[in-house]
Amino acid sequence: MCGIVGYIGSKSAENVLISGLRRLEYRGYDSCGIATIHDGKFAVSKTTKRIDDLESNLKEDVSTIGIGHTRWATHGAATIANAHPHVSNSEKFIVVHNGIIENYVALKELLKEKGFQFYSDTDTEVIPNLIEMNYDGDLLKAVKKTTDMLEGSFALGILDKDDSSTLVATRRNSPLIIGVGEGENFIASDFSAIVKYTNQIDILENDQFAVLKKDEVDFYDNDLKEYHLESQRVDISDEDIEKNGYSHYMLKEIHENTSTIKNTLDHYISGDQICFDLQLSEEELENIQQIHIVACGTATHAGLNGKNIIEKLARIPVNVVAASEFRYQNPILSPNDLVIFISQSGETADTIASIELVKERGVKFLSIVNVPNSTIDRMSENVLFTKAGPEIAVASTKAYVAQVCVLDLFAIFLADKLHRADRRFLQELLDELKNIHTKVEMVLEEDDQYLAYAKKIVGDKDIFYLGRGVDYYTAQEGSLKLKEISYIHSEAMQLGELKHGSIALMEKGIHTIVLCTEESLVGKVISNIKEIKARDAEVLLVSNLNITEEVYDDMIHLPAVNELLSPIVAVIPLQLIAYHVAVLKNLDVDKPRNLAKSVTVE
Ligand code: G6P
Repeated sequence: MCGIVGYIGSKSAENVLISGLRRLEYRGYDSCGIATIHDGKFAVSKTTKRIDDLESNLKEDVSTIGIGHTRWATHGAATIANAHPHVSNSEKFIVVHNGIIENYVALKELLKEKGFQFYSDTDTEVIPNLIEMNYDGDLLKAVKKTTDMLEGSFALGILDKDDSSTLVATRRNSPLIIGVGEGENFIASDFSAIVKYTNQIDILENDQFAVLKKDEVDFYDNDLKEYHLESQRVDISDEDIEKNGYSHYMLKEIHENTSTIKNTLDHYISGDQICFDLQLSEEELENIQQIHIVACGTATHAGLNGKNIIEKLARIPVNVVAASEFRYQNPILSPNDLVIFISQSGETADTIASIELVKERGVKFLSIVNVPNSTIDRMSENVLFTKAGPEIAVASTKAYVAQVCVLDLFAIFLADKLHRADRRFLQELLDELKNIHTKVEMVLEEDDQYLAYAKKIVGDKDIFYLGRGVDYYTAQEGSLKLKEISYIHSEAMQLGELKHGSIALMEKGIHTIVLCTEESLVGKVISNIKEIKARDAEVLLVSNLNITEEVYDDMIHLPAVNELLSPIVAVIPLQLIAYHVAVLKNLDVDKPRNLAKSVTVE
C-alpha cells in the first residue's frame, strides 16, 4: 500500500527520497511523487509510472529537505492530479498521507464554503487546506487542530515552503517511524526506506507529533506537551533487503526458507525444551477451551495448518477466521479462550482491528509477527516472532513457512504442558522439526522439475489444487500463490468434495495438482485421482508416500517427514511452480498488479 519517506539534512533530498521510494516499491503502488523546498518554493514531481520515471524527470539535486510518496489508489484513479504530495490552495503547505480520511466529504464541503478549491479526487487534499485554514503562525498547532478534525487513519509528512528547516510528522492507525541520523533525520512508513542511512529509530504512537530539524527531533503528545522518546536500534542491514544475486526477491526468499526455519526454531528451542516467553499461567493454558486463529491471506493459511496440528496434538478445538470477517461477526469468545493473531508485517488493518476487539472483550491473545516494533507487536503482550527477516516480495513465502514452524512448536509445547500426547512422541517430533530444514533443502534442489511443470501449465486459464485434510490447507496456499503472481485463475478444493460439484469442470486440457501426505488417506486420494483421470484431466501428484500405482501423469516426490510436519516441505514446490509460471509469463513477480504487501487500510 502507500509508502512515505521524508528527509531533512545536508544530503541531496532528491537522492535520499528516490532511494527511499525504491525501497517502498515492493508495497505496491500505481503513482508516486516527491516535493522538496527550493528558493522558498516547492519543487514537485509526480508520475503514474515507476520510480525510474520519477527520477529521470527530476531537474537538479538542489534541496536538503523533502517528502516522497508511493500511492496505491483508493479515492480517485491513479492520475498525476491524484498522486501525492498534495499542496494547499496558497501553495504554502504540502502533505504526503497514508491511510483513509473517512469524513473527507464533510471537510471538503466546509473548506469549499470558506472558498477553498480542489484539484483532485483524493481524501488527502483536505489535509493541507485544513492546515492552511488552521494556521496562525505555528505549524505544529495548525497540524494538531487539523488532526483533531480528521476521522479515519493517517500517517502524515508535512512541509511549509517558508520554513526549510522543519519537517512535521504525525500518525493515527497507520505506521510511521522517525529515523535518527548524524546531522540528518528521516520519516518513513517502513524501515526499509531508510535502512541505508540509519539503524536508529523512534516509533510514533497514535496522535503523537514529531518536529524534525536537521540536528534534532522533538516529540509532542496529543496535548502538545513535549516528551522524551528513547531511540531503538534495528538489526537489519541494507544487505538483508538486497536481492543478493537472485533475479527476484521472491526466488531469494523461497531459497531463504531453510535459514528461516533454522533461525525460527533456534530462537525457541534450547536443548530439548521449547522456551516461549508468554504471560500465560499453567492454569490459563490448562483451562483453554477453544483457540481462535485470526489473520489475513497467506497468514490465514498458516493458521489452518496450526489448526491441524494443535487439534491433533493438544486436542483443543481451533477456529480459523479471516480478520476481515472476525471483526464484524460479533465473535463468540469465552473468558477461557485463547486468540492467536498471525501477521508477517504486523500492520494489517483488519488484523489490528480484530486485536482491538479482543482486547476490549478482555480475552487472552498472542500474536505471531515477523516485524519487530510493528503495530501488532506493540499492541500485544504475548508475541512469538517468526525469524524470517525482511520479506520484500508481495507474495509471502518464507514468512508463511516460519509461521507454520511457530505454530508447530506451539502445538508441541501445548500438548506437552497439558499432557495430551506421549512425551516420547513429542520429543521425536521436535527432533524431526529441528532437522526439517535439510528436507526443505532437498526439495529446493529439484527446481528443474518445478520449472518443467510450470512450462506445462503456463498457457492454462484454470488450475485446480486438491487435497484432503491438511493437504487441502497447503493446496489453498499453493493456489493463492499462483493466482497472485501469474494471474491464472486457480482454485483449491477438498478432494473428497470433488464429486459434489467441481468434477463437472474436469475435462481434457485441465491440469490438477493433487497433494497427498497423509498415510491413512492414500487409498481415498488414489480413487479421487482415478475419477479425475477418467474425465481426461491431468494430475500432478505431490507426495512423500509410497504410491505404487501409477495413476498420475507427473509426480513430485517429497522427502519423508512425519505427516504433522509435511506442510512445511509440501508447500515449497508450489511456491516455486507459481514463481516459474510468473517468470515465464514475463510478469512483475515481486510486485504483482493490484496487490500490496502490507494492507494498512480496510
Ligand atoms: C496481503 C499480502 C499477503 C499477506 C496478507 C496478510 O494480502 O499480499 O502476502 O499474506 O496481506 O499480511 P500480514 O502482513 O498480516 O501477514
